[in-house]
Amino acid sequence: MCGIIGYIGECQAAPILIEGLERLEYRGYDSSGLAVRDGREVQVVKSTGRLKRLAEITDNGKALYGFCGLGHTRWATHGEPSEVNSHPHQSSDGEVTLVHNGIIENYAEQRKKLMARGYSFVSETDTEVAASMLSYYYKKYGREPLRAISETMLRIHGSFAFGIMFKDCPEVLYAARGDSPLIIGRAEDGYYLASDVPAILSHTRLVYYPDNMEIAEIKRDSVRFFNSDLEQIKRDCVEIMWDNSYAHRGEYEHFMLKEIHEQPRAVRETLSRYIKNGEIDLSQSGLTDGVMRELDRLYIVACGSAYHVAEVAKYEIERVAGLPVETEIASEFRYRERELSKNGAVIVISQSGETADTLAALRISRQRGLRAYAIVNVAGSTISREADGVIYTQAGQEVSVATTKAYSAQLAAVYMLCIRLAAVRGRISRRVYDGYIDELTSLPEKIGKCLENQDKMRWLAQSLSGAEDAFFIGRGLDYALALEGSLKLKEITYIHSEAYAAGELKHGSISLIEDGTLVICLMTQDELIPKTVNNITEVKSRGAYVITVAAEGDRAADKVSDAVLYVPKTDRMLMPSLAVIPLQLLAYYLSVARGHDVDKPRNLAKSVTVE
Ligand code: AGP
Repeated sequence: MCGIIGYIGECQAAPILIEGLERLEYRGYDSSGLAVRDGREVQVVKSTGRLKRLAEITDNGKALYGFCGLGHTRWATHGEPSEVNSHPHQSSDGEVTLVHNGIIENYAEQRKKLMARGYSFVSETDTEVAASMLSYYYKKYGREPLRAISETMLRIHGSFAFGIMFKDCPEVLYAARGDSPLIIGRAEDGYYLASDVPAILSHTRLVYYPDNMEIAEIKRDSVRFFNSDLEQIKRDCVEIMWDNSYAHRGEYEHFMLKEIHEQPRAVRETLSRYIKNGEIDLSQSGLTDGVMRELDRLYIVACGSAYHVAEVAKYEIERVAGLPVETEIASEFRYRERELSKNGAVIVISQSGETADTLAALRISRQRGLRAYAIVNVAGSTISREADGVIYTQAGQEVSVATTKAYSAQLAAVYMLCIRLAAVRGRISRRVYDGYIDELTSLPEKIGKCLENQDKMRWLAQSLSGAEDAFFIGRGLDYALALEGSLKLKEITYIHSEAYAAGELKHGSISLIEDGTLVICLMTQDELIPKTVNNITEVKSRGAYVITVAAEGDRAADKVSDAVLYVPKTDRMLMPSLAVIPLQLLAYYLSVARGHDVDKPRNLAKSVTVE
């Protein structure tokens, strides 16, 4: 997943492109580049490493002159991070300049054909092949840009969001998408193209969302849209209501710490969007009471942390609402051959709303005739536009690659879903329903309490900064939470970590426990505490150093753990929202202690828009 941006208008393009790439850096940051033109000539500047290097060598864009240009920040898919592989790419005849987000799966066969037609290549990338395809069809079909783009799109297997400049057309930018995200922005000073809203939010809130296989022809003062048959289509402009404050770190050293602290607000705003006058009302998502009553099964599909939320949902919807739930990682779901119940429904969970595997799972579900809903944080995202209905989390823009506030807001969404399902299916009384709503309403304040006095977390992180392995264990909901704690730790500290159902450790992996091995135990589910205590003593007797996360008042952990992190008590269903906070803080402070780039961990990107 990469970030693309383009601009054409009355201002100098390069500074605008640099600023936009800074807002897109979370999408990929191993190299970056600009292509700026003043008339027919195009200047291309590229740089490996972080974007600030490109800003330095171009004096924040001031060194490039021109009112039209493209920019790109890369997460390498084809070819190592290097200057020659970074974007923008040009066809060997110089006719086409291109930036691309996505993967072209048939690039090798296309490259062979193009070489036979006289094209040469300097990079290992699929994007350079696409640039030459565009040039080839441009020259083959009467030097018609729209025709060239359409012919190219129709021959690509894979995903793409393109920003394109043709040498002969200095006054026009083109954009096209196939599965990768793309927006077109309309501003006073010109028009923009970008992978995502944050890149252009400081210039405009008016955006167009091209559909798949559509082309945008962008001029200084106008934009036209075409389908792949080159029929012009009408696209309405949408006003983005995002709060731009999320795009700035404020007084925090890292976005991750800021977003950890934004969790009370993210949860409060998500709850208040759907809890009105003491009632949970999800009907605006299409999940009406009637739909909830007739369901015989739920399939919850997601990736990464969103999948860990799905695991929490599974345990509680089955326990409290009595509805069978199957969870699956989206990259498995999309290729599994299996029966799906026609009276079931699929729910995909995605912060970005652009994750390729999750989007594919949504599309497959709908193609197979199931209702497919989504829990999404980014309004206007592809998943939000293609689902049958959406429950929106209200976390605001999340910049740090490691998700925190969006994860917590997703938990709030699945709690509301679970409780409403249980109520409409007659599984809980009005009194129990009201009790749940009271507990939900007090959750933001309790999350806030978990954020007080972080000195202990800083100290603990310092003392653990040399750890090489970590095991997260728990039972039931605590196991679902162990999955999230383990991912948080490994993705930003690079410490190898695994999550285990506490009862499973003794079936093999306990052989890895030795003197000083770090074990983090989640023990928040009352009825499972005695069994979990047994698991702690099992690893302790083999030399483990055990940190336990427990609810205030539960003294069982004290006797068997080396350290206990207490969180406020709440209903067992909601405990993951509290117990996750120390796990997030521990991962954060450990990453800082180990000197890593917390917000942009190596090899990762915020939105995985490729398979
Ligand atoms: C979580 O910290 C990771 N950044 C990653 O696992 C993420 O949750 C996953 O890629 C899913 O992203 P999505 O919610 O935007 O679909």
